[in-house]
Amino acid sequence: MNDQVNHYLEQNADRFVDELKEFLRIPTVSADPACKPHMTRGAEFVYRQFSNLGFQAEIVPTAGHPIVYAEWLKSPGAPTVMVYGHYDVQPADPLDLWTTPPFEPTLRNGCLYARGATDDKGQVFTHIKSAESWLRTLGKLPVNLKYVIEGEEEVGSRNLEDFLNARKKRLQCDVAVVSDTSQYGPGQPAITYGLRGILAVEVTVTGPKKDLHSGVFGGSVANPASGLAKLIASLHDERGRVRIPGFYDAVTPLTETERQQFRDLGFDEAAFKAELGIAEVAGEEGFSTQERRWARPTCEVNGMFGGYTGAGPKTIVPSKATVKLTCRLVPSQDPVVLTDALHKYLKSQCPPSLKFEFTSYHGCPAFVFDPNSPYIEAASEAIREAWGVDRVRLIREGGSIPVVQTFKDVLGLDTLLLGWGQNTDNLHSPDEHFSVADFHRGIKASAILWQKLAEMSHSPSVGTANRIC
Ligand code: BES
Ligand code: MN
Ligand code: MN
Repeated sequence: MNDQVNHYLEQNADRFVDELKEFLRIPTVSADPACKPHMTRGAEFVYRQFSNLGFQAEIVPTAGHPIVYAEWLKSPGAPTVMVYGHYDVQPADPLDLWTTPPFEPTLRNGCLYARGATDDKGQVFTHIKSAESWLRTLGKLPVNLKYVIEGEEEVGSRNLEDFLNARKKRLQCDVAVVSDTSQYGPGQPAITYGLRGILAVEVTVTGPKKDLHSGVFGGSVANPASGLAKLIASLHDERGRVRIPGFYDAVTPLTETERQQFRDLGFDEAAFKAELGIAEVAGEEGFSTQERRWARPTCEVNGMFGGYTGAGPKTIVPSKATVKLTCRLVPSQDPVVLTDALHKYLKSQCPPSLKFEFTSYHGCPAFVFDPNSPYIEAASEAIREAWGVDRVRLIREGGSIPVVQTFKDVLGLDTLLLGWGQNTDNLHSPDEHFSVADFHRGIKASAILWQKLAEMSHSPSVGTANRIC
């Protein structure tokens, strides 16, 4: 890579970490209405990063949390790259399980601990600092860059599509880059070519209009908590398959080639079990752990509650019980169709003595990228150079990033998913962290990537570097 840029990265490494800490101190929990003012501060922090670098930047209000948009378009003839990331984070609770407070970033064992460290503030920051390193040394970038940094990814990106539609023309690009996934393992960087989709719902069943004495009334009225437990139990059969009628109808089955590719990656099941503290893996019969995580659809209970959950006993029949559910979807499954199928199925399983309420939150389809794209090769070269390894794995992942399919639908864009994190970084969990070494390697890979993408446009196999499918 360019010596001056590289030198700048080395000289400024510690300051990059300090600035990331400042970003992590802002509690940008998109799901929590009490964090509204912090969301504004978070957007302002991101905006200042860009405006200080001479980007044309703005904070775009939405019906929810603001989007930060910034562009630098002074490399005529060079490719234009869309960078997407999110400045919102998941709620930090349970707080008592954090070793140090979630919004007081702390360095420990070579990692920065804070909510959002890896998902996604630390990762998105790598693409800001890589642009800075070019602009502060050579005064220019090898490619044109457009950044969309949103504040609602963790709540389903509900206002992003409108934003993309409204600016369709201005947002034209050649390819998108997103760092919001994971490496295959420590020192084993990967490019993710597929993600699962998702649908998220909530179901409440109600019995008596208020909690009742379980001795005086118990046995004579339906218990909503028991009713809900039955509903939840009806979701899977004994082979671990989801029982919603039609659930598997549209599923694109895995090919034998892809199953072999998954096996060739190597997977240490014993280490996986030890890491998670489980005695056995579990899931749909007939599929390996990698297949279950990356390429099979699921239905999971995220939380269930109802009745008395405080200390000691309390003898009641609860009035209500609630479950929060998400299904992970694989290519060709439609979140709208399946939300409807889930609704109908659960309603049909609900005892008539209980009132049934169903709320749909959000959904997005699965995503797969052409693993033979020349963009993947350019990214792979950049990563190999930054990590000093000779192999970058091509993997799929089980998580979801709604924007990638929206980019495809609205802008015709394909997305390079370049994850600098680890799945063991405790994303969405207590003690979330990001390796400082991975943070710096990510910045370096990103800085090299701009160069590689610029060089690609001269390669005859790519032509105008526009549209790859
Ligand atoms: N960054 C994650 C997605 C992810 C993490 C993908 C690790 C692959 C590996 C993202 O912020 C996320 O958490 N997405 C949500 C979806 C959203 C609609 C709530 C998810 O997957 O639960
Ligand atoms: Mn994320
Ligand atoms: Mn997340």
